Amino acid sequence: MVRYENYINGEWVQPLSGSYTKNVNPATGEVLGEVAKSGPEDVDRAVAAAKRAQKEWRLVPAPERAEILYEVARILKEKKEYLAEILTSEMGKVIAEARGEVQEAIDMAYYMAGEGRRLFGDTVPSELRNKFAMSVRVPVGIAGLITPWNFPIAIASWKSLPALVSGNAVVWKPATETPFMAAEFAKIYDEAGLPKGLLNVVFGNGSVVGNALVEHPDVDIISFTGSNEVGKAINGRAGSLLKRTSLEMGGKNAVTVLEDADIDLAVDGIVWSAFGTAGQRCTACSRIIVHESVKEELESKLLARIRALKVGNGLDETVDVGPVINRASLERIHSYVQKGVEEGAKLLCGGEILSEGDLAEGHYYAPTLFTNVSPGMVIAREEIFGPVTSIIPVRSLEEAIEVNNSVEFGLSSSIFTKDVNKVFTAMRDFDTGIVYVNAGTTGAEIHLPFGGTKGTGNGHRDSGVAALDVYTEWKSVYVDFSGTLQRAQIDNK
Ligand code: UN1
Repeated sequence: MVRYENYINGEWVQPLSGSYTKNVNPATGEVLGEVAKSGPEDVDRAVAAAKRAQKEWRLVPAPERAEILYEVARILKEKKEYLAEILTSEMGKVIAEARGEVQEAIDMAYYMAGEGRRLFGDTVPSELRNKFAMSVRVPVGIAGLITPWNFPIAIASWKSLPALVSGNAVVWKPATETPFMAAEFAKIYDEAGLPKGLLNVVFGNGSVVGNALVEHPDVDIISFTGSNEVGKAINGRAGSLLKRTSLEMGGKNAVTVLEDADIDLAVDGIVWSAFGTAGQRCTACSRIIVHESVKEELESKLLARIRALKVGNGLDETVDVGPVINRASLERIHSYVQKGVEEGAKLLCGGEILSEGDLAEGHYYAPTLFTNVSPGMVIAREEIFGPVTSIIPVRSLEEAIEVNNSVEFGLSSSIFTKDVNKVFTAMRDFDTGIVYVNAGTTGAEIHLPFGGTKGTGNGHRDSGVAALDVYTEWKSVYVDFSGTLQRAQIDNK
């Protein structure tokens, strides 16, 4: 059986506890291997290695650090197909999407490698003569990364690459469901020539390993993507320890379809955003806000498309929707659907656990569509993280915006319309961190900031140049070359 150990100081080492957990393919129930179940003492070792390595790494010129990132990009590209297959076996998303996710990591690696020759600060005129003023980005120190299973390599790339290019060391706790992806990524960093100790991987439960990272006095930053419940707990504790936290949490994203929309295009966007990754994206479309005059047309076209979706093992190229991550998730999704029915929403299709034939050993949920949903219902407010979406009828753009903004999250939103005035109104008034026009709610590109408002985050962003703000401190430097004491705010007035 394959066994994944922790990766500390460039070595694969057993967890001090000697315990392991199983890694299971959600499509087949097959045990893929075993992964280390670590404790706080393993985190201590990883942090100590990171601390030693970072001392030297901060002095390596950023363009030289970036050379390694270019190599990471090249190797990722070379191994794209291999990685995509592991990704699908381990977390279930269909192979085309797995390739897309690996591509996202490749793009991020090239992009952040480019930052090695930018990492821009400001140069500004001083208010005094013969004095120079500038700001530079400096590394913070050690970044503790806690990443989810739904985008096991893309999200890990959004966090580790900017952390490393800007001179930090990393201790990474990947999701327990996707250890192989994490191990493969660590191997790639190693092959690319990253010095020992700069990227350490500690496998284990969030409540143990994640907590130990948050509590460790030498970990300066915690970057977390996952549930609101965990994010809030991290923020509370890390806040009291004066640590920087970057949090990326839930979504309840809506596609708005107005009366003048291209309905076929909207159907394409909705099906892709609601059922891609079996709805297990933070950006998934879990609400469809539709103008009542086109509701029936949208419903019937959506139904036809959803009924034609093929559910199965994502390694089969003809499958559209893969399994969900595990049994607990399947049950949670189903209980939301039951709640929707109880609250009076009309179930148009799906609403059941699938276990016929080839699906028997995996965790499959039928793509589900509700209609006549009102904004107050639980299925319209809480993140379901599964292949379930709900139609909410409205009478105007104003009402659509109000409904869009009525949830506690603020990640992604989308509008389908041909009216440029309505487009710009929605762009201004949707209160999410990401807005799409005539496209679904998923598909963010890595060179723009990724993140959300309200309950989705805490003001930080992954990816894009904004990611550098998470992993760097600003240092403002004044160089006085006058040879005299010049007092700012006094001598020039
Ligand atoms: C996530 O679901 O956490 O925009 C990330 C998207 C992808 C990333 C999703 N590029 O849907």
